Amino acid sequence: MKNKVVWITGASSGIGEALVYAYHSLGASLIISSRNADELQRVKSNCHGPFPIHILTLNLEDHDSLSAKARTAKLVYGQIDILINSGGISQRSLAMETDLAVEKRFFDINFWGTVILSKAVILQSLPGSGLSIVAVSSLVGKFGTRYRSAYSASKHALHGYFDSLRSELDDPNIHILLACPGFIRTNVTLNALTANGTAQGTMDHAQENGMAPAAFAEKLIKAILARKEEVYIGGKEIYGVYLKRFFPRLFSKIIRKAKVT
Ligand SMILES: NC(=O)c1ccc[n+]([C@@H]2O[C@H](COP(=O)([O-])OP(=O)(O)OC[C@H]3O[C@@H](n4cnc5c(N)ncnc54)[C@H](OP(=O)(O)O)[C@@H]3O)[C@@H](O)[C@H]2O)c1
Repeated sequence: MKNKVVWITGASSGIGEALVYAYHSLGASLIISSRNADELQRVKSNCHGPFPIHILTLNLEDHDSLSAKARTAKLVYGQIDILINSGGISQRSLAMETDLAVEKRFFDINFWGTVILSKAVILQSLPGSGLSIVAVSSLVGKFGTRYRSAYSASKHALHGYFDSLRSELDDPNIHILLACPGFIRTNVTLNALTANGTAQGTMDHAQENGMAPAAFAEKLIKAILARKEEVYIGGKEIYGVYLKRFFPRLFSKIIRKAKVT
């Protein structure tokens, strides 16, 4: 990865943080982003190799600011080779109880934040430069479960958008990957929004027993190198994708009872 520039959002925690450590150890030059500058500084301090790390704070909800952030990011090292959109927020609330304003936030952050940043990076990429754009979706970007309605919808929307964009661009130099994590052991459930928009603040059992973020990062990096278009990474929960595809009625019965917290 030497001489490669990787921009990672959601870099202050969980999957994004693990990706920072993995790419740093591979010798990439990094731009790391999220809202919390102190947490980004902590992540940077944990990296001891000689390869550069630049902190660029951003808020994915502040849509008007994101094109300027992309221009700033390009100026840091003069290029961007890989953008990994890991910044996002999950949900733990029933659809019928959740405020519309909260439901819209999942789209503002997970969908529009990712789309706006990705388009800005694609627009400023040089022809033939070999850009990879990664949208971190979810297994619930492939099927819905309890407590995730608007979150799941925001992740499904990423698939529709980026699959369409990939076919429109039809450019072998621009690689677009939709990465679908299963249960990965991060703070995602602590930060997940409840019906009124407050953070859940507790760790789900399923998350606690999920895949380690470092193992996830290793698999994602391989998928990027292999220029895959879609990848499912997690434990046995990934079989849900195939169950839904080939046995939709059976899947529908099972998912109602499935333990997803
Ligand atoms: N862990 C899982 O099991 C799992 C499963 C499926 C999908 N995912 C997806 O994986 C991605 C990473 O999640 P994670 O598990 O690493 O969770 P996490 O530990 O909670 O990390 C979420 C990251 O997103 C950033 N973020 C949240 N809101 C933001 C905003 N408005 N603007 C900018 N950055 C924001 C957070 O940083 P700041 O608070 O500093 O802004 C943090 O760095 C998310 O898209 C999530 O939906 C995770």
